[in-house]
Amino acid sequence: MVAAVAPAPAIADGRFVHGSAGVGDPFFPRAGNGGYDVSHYRLALRYTPAGNRLRATAAIKAVATEGLSRFDLDLRGLRVSSVSVDADPADFRRRGQELLVTPRRPLPGGEPFKVRVRYRGSPRPVIDPDGSKDGWIPTNDGAFVADEPQGAPTWFPCDDHPTDKATYEFRVTVPAGVVAVANGKLKYRIRGRRHTTFVWREGSPMATYLATATIGRFEVSRSRADGSPSYVAVAPARTAAAAPVLAKLPAILRLWGRKFGDYPFAATGAIVDHAPSVGYALETQTRPLFDTVPDQATLAHELAHQWFGDDVTPRRWRDIWLNEGFATWAEWYWAQHTGGRSTGAVFDALYAVGRGDTAFWNPPPADPGKPENLFDGTIYERGGMALEALRQKVGAKVFFRILRDWVSMHRYGNASTRQFIDLAELDSGMDLRGFLRAWLYRPIQRGKPPLP
Ligand code: ARG
Ligand code: ZN
Repeated sequence: MVAAVAPAPAIADGRFVHGSAGVGDPFFPRAGNGGYDVSHYRLALRYTPAGNRLRATAAIKAVATEGLSRFDLDLRGLRVSSVSVDADPADFRRRGQELLVTPRRPLPGGEPFKVRVRYRGSPRPVIDPDGSKDGWIPTNDGAFVADEPQGAPTWFPCDDHPTDKATYEFRVTVPAGVVAVANGKLKYRIRGRRHTTFVWREGSPMATYLATATIGRFEVSRSRADGSPSYVAVAPARTAAAAPVLAKLPAILRLWGRKFGDYPFAATGAIVDHAPSVGYALETQTRPLFDTVPDQATLAHELAHQWFGDDVTPRRWRDIWLNEGFATWAEWYWAQHTGGRSTGAVFDALYAVGRGDTAFWNPPPADPGKPENLFDGTIYERGGMALEALRQKVGAKVFFRILRDWVSMHRYGNASTRQFIDLAELDSGMDLRGFLRAWLYRPIQRGKPPLP
């Protein structure tokens, strides 16, 4: 267990305080900031892949939730040249991953305000506690931009916590011949002789860790997939290998729509990059991002995250099994649906493997203990098994009702493991507390979690 670190105390200054440097997430105490809520980010980025140079302006609309004489944004690296608040120049200072902003006039609680930050530099990824990297990751021909859990501040100043969702506009200018792919819909392109600007808009609330502006010499295909406009970008020389898998995207979306409820967003697609140093894929909102050509299981996984992760997002990072357990179970379900092993057979096989193997079972999915374990195999597999055990216990009909209610109750919001257990009990009318707690929270020294 990492000690729970309280957010930095707000310093009283009459009716105005300094917004705290974090929102009190025990895994990442300085992630997010206190004192305001962002509603919209407008990011104008100009990127030169040769030399990894970024020049940018972020315009952020927010509402103060308390009177603020100072507040923080999260920003890692890069050089800030100016900050303004409501068009007045503001004082600013850097302190680690925090950008401290002192507006000329304090901001009254409840009032909207606008911040504009101009910055530039060579963005670099963050190294996460588990040794993986996320954020702006330069590639041969651009950048692979994947922000879970800490990478968003490597390329834009933000309130970097999953609980502060906002809408986005991205205007990304790249050299002619290069493509910039962000979330949502491509509104238009401005093509000059030497540069192209891609203007993207994501109009549904989105967590910072799901934002991308991935850049490369992609081949693009546009179509419709299960009723949504689809924009697929694939790295050169990967198109032939990717085509048969990407051809499944509409059918997967259709199945998830039937089982989980209507697709939550206004656009879909995928980005298949060549980024061998990354080693994972990400459920970037509306447009999953792959470091290599995915298999069907991985595509089904990232598309299931559009419901479980992107639409309904964990309230705290320790609740990450609500993303990974669900997407893993969905992988198994897609395999069953396409004639492979049943979800029950997958469960049985894993249950047998887990015999006497404490590393297989620990840490428990809903209590990863420390941020190094966020993406541990157990969060995925024991998390998926917990759901399969629940399905067998309550029956398929009630199980899918729970999943659909989960999505519709928390649409575009955040939720916790406790709320999931409460809903499972409500929808099933069964006492599931002991059973689900054993699957989700109990460390296994010997024996196994209970069979349904
Ligand atoms: N959510 C991703 C998935 O689909 C994994 C992200 C891992 N991120 C990292 N920094 N290791 O499973
Ligand atoms: Zn996942």
